Amino acid sequence: MDPPLRLLPDGRLTAALLLLGACLSVCSVQAVTSAEASYIAHRQLAAMKEAGGGEAGDLPPDFEFDDRVGANFPNPRLRRAYIALQAWRRAFYSDPKGYTSNWVGNEVCKYNGVVCVEALDDPKVTVVAGIDLNGADIAGYLPPELGLLTDLAFFHINSNRFCGIIPKSMSRLSLLHEFDVSNNRFVGPFPFVCLEMSSLKYLDLRFNDFEGELPPGLFDKDLDAIFVNTNRFVGHIPENLGNSTASVVVVANNGLTGCIPKSIGRMVRTLDEIIFLNNKLDGCLPLEMGLLQNTTVIDVSGNALVGTLPEQLSNITKLEQLDCSRNVFTGIVHESICELPALVNFSFAFNFFNSEAAPCMPSEKALVNLDDRDNCLGALRPAQKTTLQCAPVLARPVDCSKHVCAGYPTPSGPPALPGKPPMVKVPPTPTPDEPRKSPQQQPPPSPLKSESPPAIITASSSSKLTTSSGRLTPAKARRSKITTSRIPTSAVVQ
Ligand SMILES: *[C@@H]1O[C@H](CO)[C@@H](O)[C@H](O)[C@H]1NC(C)=O
Ligand SMILES: *[C@@H]1O[C@H](CO)[C@@H](O)[C@H](O)[C@H]1NC(C)=O
Ligand SMILES: *[C@@H]1O[C@H](CO)[C@@H](O)[C@H](O)[C@H]1NC(C)=O
Ligand SMILES: *[C@@H]1O[C@H](CO)[C@@H](O)[C@H](O)[C@H]1NC(C)=O
Repeated sequence: MDPPLRLLPDGRLTAALLLLGACLSVCSVQAVTSAEASYIAHRQLAAMKEAGGGEAGDLPPDFEFDDRVGANFPNPRLRRAYIALQAWRRAFYSDPKGYTSNWVGNEVCKYNGVVCVEALDDPKVTVVAGIDLNGADIAGYLPPELGLLTDLAFFHINSNRFCGIIPKSMSRLSLLHEFDVSNNRFVGPFPFVCLEMSSLKYLDLRFNDFEGELPPGLFDKDLDAIFVNTNRFVGHIPENLGNSTASVVVVANNGLTGCIPKSIGRMVRTLDEIIFLNNKLDGCLPLEMGLLQNTTVIDVSGNALVGTLPEQLSNITKLEQLDCSRNVFTGIVHESICELPALVNFSFAFNFFNSEAAPCMPSEKALVNLDDRDNCLGALRPAQKTTLQCAPVLARPVDCSKHVCAGYPTPSGPPALPGKPPMVKVPPTPTPDEPRKSPQQQPPPSPLKSESPPAIITASSSSKLTTSSGRLTPAKARRSKITTSRIPTSAVVQ
């Protein structure tokens, strides 16, 4: 692997080398501590600042093309792509599989992982429309020059060891439909640059070390799929969750607190699947969840949710998977929920339910895979909590109509009431808080996605990028559904 020679003159080279050194020493060890991750971010900030576009990694407006790059390209867009890809290659520290070993010479369309098609605006011009480095295990960072790849429709680099932040210059990728940087070592606050990509539909940030709060803009953007699971996000879920047009929303395995916003009911027209698994959410389930009549997967397991399961859930007639396990729910599990026509899986294990309707009782004959373990259902059911464990919780039932997180039927008035701490102590439950696995051991977040080539390649033979991406995103989301509905045991819970 070439050293990043001539990446930047003088001190910039030093900064870049420092960054790579930091990335190497951190990326290659098993776990990235937040201190190390923030160190990398600082090195990258320094390097980007020196590159001339500010410390967020923008390109200077007067970005000069490298004079040493000749004019021997079929068109100027491929020449710019060459400059971007060569800058990126110099920002690779290691490429153990030699995946980019043919990234030499002017013919960028022959580079591994680079997909060219005819330009949308000019069928006579060939442009770089896709990057697919999924699973290449490359270590490095993203240089600001990637902002030159303005013809990109998809950018897939899942399961590599890229460190640092997403450079601001990538907001220039106005045709980008899919941005998948999952299973890398990116750090810093939520990458706002993604919200500035005007065509983006599929946003996949899972399995990184992003931190801080989720911005409300994430849910105001016209996205089809939102994967932010398995990062270090904290704070409340923005109240405007319900503005989202996404069919798949996965916020699992973060440190999110507070309530599930009541606005969730507004997602009725688009939401297929929503996963809140393993956060620190509390409060009661919003009754507005019952409005989601076309949603097929809801997972709120592994939080600190209280109160009873609203009977309104029985309005979700398309529901196939419902996981409420590992919370502090009490009261009865209604038969109207257990008898939902499409229901396949329903776990309410590891709660404090003290009553279940007959159809909710697990049995060999039941059409639904039910799990009622570790509740307060008494001696008639196996594997229940003891009276001693149940009594303190059952003695203080939560009134969801008064509880701060239960807005309904309270007028939508002042939203953002901060979630009160749960009224009861969260019972010790099996938490999946294992240390992060090394890239080698860690399963890629979505095997299906990394195995199959992006649909856009197979689906679009020529200049059909607009139409194919229109079809593409829902297809992707559907594939992700297969993955996420299996997630509780595999990918999301590391
Ligand atoms: C999003 O929802 C909020 C209320 O939660 C509303 O005030 C705002 O106008 C919405 N934004 C968009 C873009 O729809
Ligand atoms: C739910 O799905 C059905 C059939 O796919 C559709 O006709 C209906 O409009 C959907 N409901 C909403 C609220 O979008
Ligand atoms: C449940 O469905 C019924 C009938 O469609 C409707 O009247 C009611 O408002 C719904 N309730 C909720 C909370 O969605
Ligand atoms: C139901 O859930 C169990 C446990 O999470 C899982 O093993 C099984 O595959 C699920 N069934 C379906 C049909 O998704």
